[in-house]
Amino acid sequence: MTETQHDVRSLLAPLTAGALKSATRVWMAPLTRSRSRQPGDIPWELNAEYYAQRADPARGAAVIVSEATQISQQGKGYAFTPGVYSPEQVEGWKLVTNAVHEQGGLIVAQLWHVGRISHTALQPNGGKPVAPSAIRANSHTYVDDSMGRKPVSEPRALELDEIPGVIDQYRHAAQAAKDAGFDGIEIHGANGYLLQQFLRRSTNKRTDAYGGSLENRARLGIEVTRATLDVWGADRVGYRISPLGEGMDDPDDHPSETYGYVSTELGKLGLGFLHVVEQFGDAARTPETEPVLATIRQAFRESGGGAYIANGGYDGPTAAARIADDKADAVAFGKAFISNPDLADRFRRGADLAEWDRGTFYGGGAEGYTTYPALS
Ligand SMILES: Cc1cc2nc3c(=O)[nH]c(=O)nc-3n(C[C@H](O)[C@H](O)[C@H](O)COP(=O)(O)O)c2cc1C
Repeated sequence: MTETQHDVRSLLAPLTAGALKSATRVWMAPLTRSRSRQPGDIPWELNAEYYAQRADPARGAAVIVSEATQISQQGKGYAFTPGVYSPEQVEGWKLVTNAVHEQGGLIVAQLWHVGRISHTALQPNGGKPVAPSAIRANSHTYVDDSMGRKPVSEPRALELDEIPGVIDQYRHAAQAAKDAGFDGIEIHGANGYLLQQFLRRSTNKRTDAYGGSLENRARLGIEVTRATLDVWGADRVGYRISPLGEGMDDPDDHPSETYGYVSTELGKLGLGFLHVVEQFGDAARTPETEPVLATIRQAFRESGGGAYIANGGYDGPTAAARIADDKADAVAFGKAFISNPDLADRFRRGADLAEWDRGTFYGGGAEGYTTYPALS
């Protein structure tokens, strides 16, 4: 055994994450690729081929988290992203889930409501995007074929009596994901989208039961999660957070307190996994971030939660070391899975990783999507 192979053994060991029997600790992070069929935001054969290439749990991902998938038209923020609410989308996703299952793989759907990160051109009847408060984000989106960047629109604050309807959108999408043959769901509570907009003080200025105190700001995320438990067993539900900032909003002012609380509440619901974006972009890890992550990990585990899935800037050896140190149960890889469909196999063999091409991340066809080869 070479040193590299020895180094990654912990990463290639099996794991039970809630009800998900994960063949290794190598998960695929959610990756928006903006290639759904139009009109209707419908997954199709090209998407099925892409996921199937990465789905063999021995060579690729033990568990795939799907690209973020809007739960309604209101929840849409970018052109060409898929939805999981219409019958046509459910049929389209069946192509994907069947293709993954044929490889012996597992796939969970990432449920997404973008909140204020949207544009009137994408919203029902050209209306304003919705948010906890009417505060425009300093962010861009793309709304059509040109893929040109446009500033996001000014949002409007959700009325208190609209919130049950938003929760229903999640419940409906959770059922649609089940009908489409997914193995579970991940609620997207990260990266500056709706649930994080509620949680973060800088984007939530409400004075009702969904604003103000930490308990109030966390309420929507917890209620949404509870609603999906009408459809799925908690052991097939995960939740994604980005406690250390992601460039979309001001960083949380008290991340240990905020995310310690959220992780405890999610753990009490018995969720199968918590997926933590530990590092965003190319920002370096600092010693100050470690206690925050330790608090979250401990809060989730001790309150009854399942697996802790780490993400952000890992390679094979650093991921394996993190698992060996008991600081993660599995690691999700994002960009590395774009250009290495056989990522686990490369880790096992100590092979070089192929570089990803940022120019083909979003939109377009097969090029830069299904054209990255596996090693022979
Ligand atoms: C092209 C691209 C698309 C992404 N789409 C999503 C997404 O749909 N949902 C999400 O939660 N994170 C998304 N992310 C963030 C990744 O899941 C991941 O957190 C990030 O790439 C850091 O992990 P890495 O260093 O392994 O790439 C995306 C990142 C990239 C590069």
